[in-house]
Amino acid sequence: EKGGYDYFMLKEIAEQPKAVADTLLGRIDAEGSLTLDEVRIPAAVLREATKVVIVACGTAFHAGLIAKYAIEHWTRIPCEVELASEFRYRDPILDHRTLVVAISQSGETMDTLMALRHAREQGARVLAICNTNGSTIPRESDAVLYTHAGPEVAVASTKAFLTQLVACYLVALYLGQVRGTKWGDEIRAVIRDLARIAEDVERVLETMEPVRALARSLAGHDTVLFLGRHVGYPVALEGALKLKELAYMHAEGFAAGELKHGPIALIEEDLPVVVVVPSPRGRSVLHGKVVSNIQEIRARGARTIVIAEEGDEAVVPYADHLIRIPVTPTLLQPLVSTVPLQVFACELATARGNEVDQPRNLAKSVTVE
Ligand code: M6R
Repeated sequence: EKGGYDYFMLKEIAEQPKAVADTLLGRIDAEGSLTLDEVRIPAAVLREATKVVIVACGTAFHAGLIAKYAIEHWTRIPCEVELASEFRYRDPILDHRTLVVAISQSGETMDTLMALRHAREQGARVLAICNTNGSTIPRESDAVLYTHAGPEVAVASTKAFLTQLVACYLVALYLGQVRGTKWGDEIRAVIRDLARIAEDVERVLETMEPVRALARSLAGHDTVLFLGRHVGYPVALEGALKLKELAYMHAEGFAAGELKHGPIALIEEDLPVVVVVPSPRGRSVLHGKVVSNIQEIRARGARTIVIAEEGDEAVVPYADHLIRIPVTPTLLQPLVSTVPLQVFACELATARGNEVDQPRNLAKSVTVE
């Protein structure tokens, strides 16, 4: 059942290229357009939507944060992302032109279910992104886009997250396609890149041995910080969440631009800080800013663990540890940059003698509010 792996989590990390490819299967036609017929929400409704609201919890929430960048960039529709547990309690503004996207691996998370019920009561259309056929969240939604990660057994979400990202990109690109935005050419190019991305995930997995060794060497530390910017910011949050739940370490993710507004005070000698570096090609201004951040924290003694694209030489002088990821379009980078963080957390948990698949105090699906 664990397919020769010591833990389900390791098996599920390894299954990610297939999970990503399966989630794309049958959804891109021969011309490179998306065919999401399963999203039964009529095209007219999608064209008229004035706002997208994403609700989710935990790792699925991080997928939603990344989706916001893609949706707003490719469709120009304003997009809000909210923790499902906060959503209905603040009396959110919703109507029949709001498209609510509920993301859930299990389809049984009570917070997310209550949020979508509230949204439907206000007349919003709800699209579920879900990994579990026939579960409650898709049953109660207007439409569902299934992720095809296969069963995820480990409490810590890995392959489901990557497929949630793929589904979010598909929704963003589909909205762009249906509404026809000025990014038509970019959308077609990204669909082509997405169709190839499983190979990049595979390549990342093949180079994880140094990440494991690094993780083992940090087993005695108490704190690890994670920094990122743009779509790398939610990736930093996800890296920190994985480390909390698996290694029981104090871990925090920050937007790199916030460093000087407070968190830099935490930097001290030998503190491990993981930095997710944006592509030097896409948003090159941000790249330069993040490189300066790495320089600043290193000057204050941090041990810098840098995740950067192949060929990005600017980071080399400031990286105590350098983890390379393949060159990908900016918005798709989380599909490759998250993987080393999963491996890092899993290996640290093992090194600290923790139960990897069943961390203390946690349940796989949280069916109470
Ligand atoms: O089944 P769901 O996707 O709705 O679950 C949401 C969260 O409970 C879940 O992602 C949780 O944060 C994971 N343990 C993270 O690894």
